[in-house]
Amino acid sequence: MKIIQQPGIQPEIAVASIPQDERVWVPQAPSVWFRPLLLNTVTGSWCNLLRVRKSGVLSRHIHPSWVVGYVIKGAWRYLEHDWVARAGMFVYEPPGEVHTLVVDPLVDAEEMITFFNIGGAMVYVDGEGTTVGYEDVFTKIAMCRAHYAACGLGAAYVDQFIR
Ligand SMILES: [Fe+2]
Repeated sequence: MKIIQQPGIQPEIAVASIPQDERVWVPQAPSVWFRPLLLNTVTGSWCNLLRVRKSGVLSRHIHPSWVVGYVIKGAWRYLEHDWVARAGMFVYEPPGEVHTLVVDPLVDAEEMITFFNIGGAMVYVDGEGTTVGYEDVFTKIAMCRAHYAACGLGAAYVDQFIR
């Protein structure tokens, strides 16, 4: 049987999620990086790995849409909840919730790596709930372009992850 692919279908992506080339990790903050996997400009969402090599409070944020995550390595938690996300765990974060991401001193892993699929935006807030920062798929693409241009991979390296 001959299967005809319909026109307009976007190319698939199949990559090793943890890259061989360290430069693929985009610096987000000191000792914090993200690795883009899918940057979806049609739905305004993105998939990435978050890698953290320090302990402490990383961010307090709210997202107006949903987030799902899968912990690959290490552990993290939210101050607002009593569970700890450990390697192998799945997490669903409901739209609208404010939470504060904490990585405790790493004991059984030298780093934390978690896959996240984020819809809409990340809105960073301070202790009073005032917005202090904002990220969406377009700011993520811009960060990738700037980093890949600076590190020698070339700004267009990010294009393979954009749909
Ligand atoms: Fe979140």
